[in-house]
Amino acid sequence: MESFDFNLPTKIYCGNGSFQNVAEHIKEGNRIFIVSDPGIEKLGFVDKLLQQLENYDVKVFTNVKPNPKDTDCIEGGNSARDFDADYIIALGGGSVIDAAKAIAVLQVHGKRPQDFAGRGQVPSAVKPIIAIPTTAGTGAEVTRSSVITDTVRKIKFTIKDVNIAPVVAIVDPELTYGLPAPLTASTGMDALVHAIEAFTCKRANPVSDGLAIQAIKHIYPNLRKAVEDGSNKEARYHMMIGSTIAGMAFSHADVASVHCMAEAIGGLYDTPHGVANSMFLPYVIEYNAMADIKKHATIARTMGIVKEKATDEEATIALVEEMKQLAKDILIPSFASLKEINIADFNYLATSSFENGSTQSNAREITHEDYLQLFNKAYAEK
Ligand SMILES: [Fe+2]
Repeated sequence: MESFDFNLPTKIYCGNGSFQNVAEHIKEGNRIFIVSDPGIEKLGFVDKLLQQLENYDVKVFTNVKPNPKDTDCIEGGNSARDFDADYIIALGGGSVIDAAKAIAVLQVHGKRPQDFAGRGQVPSAVKPIIAIPTTAGTGAEVTRSSVITDTVRKIKFTIKDVNIAPVVAIVDPELTYGLPAPLTASTGMDALVHAIEAFTCKRANPVSDGLAIQAIKHIYPNLRKAVEDGSNKEARYHMMIGSTIAGMAFSHADVASVHCMAEAIGGLYDTPHGVANSMFLPYVIEYNAMADIKKHATIARTMGIVKEKATDEEATIALVEEMKQLAKDILIPSFASLKEINIADFNYLATSSFENGSTQSNAREITHEDYLQLFNKAYAEK
């Protein structure tokens, strides 16, 4: 009988070929600031976008790195302000879209992205953002959050504010056809974790629950297929729509301890976000299950990995094992295999995870000591 709000300020245009009609969504102004990265530029997507924007004054900024850095956002913000951008178009994966959101804030308000960290800290509207994802993972095209790395403190922080939600998301599965298998795997796991954490976290509500389950139905049966055969158009379609729906789900609920741990190692070691999520997912599910066994069992049943008569406990055990197997099948490295890992860092990583704002949303109460144990547990499994 809970109360909740639901506000999705983003118009979503989804489907094969939707990338061909970007200019249609520019309603006012002539100065377009494109945020992207060198990889996307190399694939020719930036040129394709420029061809569509021949009648506009355009500036391209491609200095975004994975696990987007505060310094790049400051540079981008200054550039967008000098250019006096009317629109920000983010063309890329989660790092690009998150950086574009921070750039939009800094264009108007100056300062550093850190100054807007937390919930509702952006004082007023920014220029409209059009987000065009090129991976099926982040869901950032429909979220109001931006995760940025503090390059001095080596931690990630999040700006969460409805002012940075894109006004338009163009979700075109064709943009993922050339995505290599390792990136398909890691970004796909990120999307699956978004759905699972949105469904099980304390901030879940009936609408986010419906979205999360629907996202799992699209993502889970298609992740292995998309990794094994990148030309499988049907799998690519379901991965893309699934990741957007998962984004809608966690944007209206939250993520939880898997992301807290993933962001801790992403900040310290620059580990790719989806890889990091995948490493901790089974252990956090195992830890959380007792807090809401029915919801965890529902995930296993939605995936179709247990027989009808299985108990909730059996379903949850199956879910833990399947998440380990899935990561192995799609060749995501284990936590222990990361060469930069130093056990002496675990205490710092546990602190960083515990201090993450989404720790409060985790299904089960979790302490610094619990995080430490989870890092050790994940590390013990070779
Ligand atoms: Fe994520």
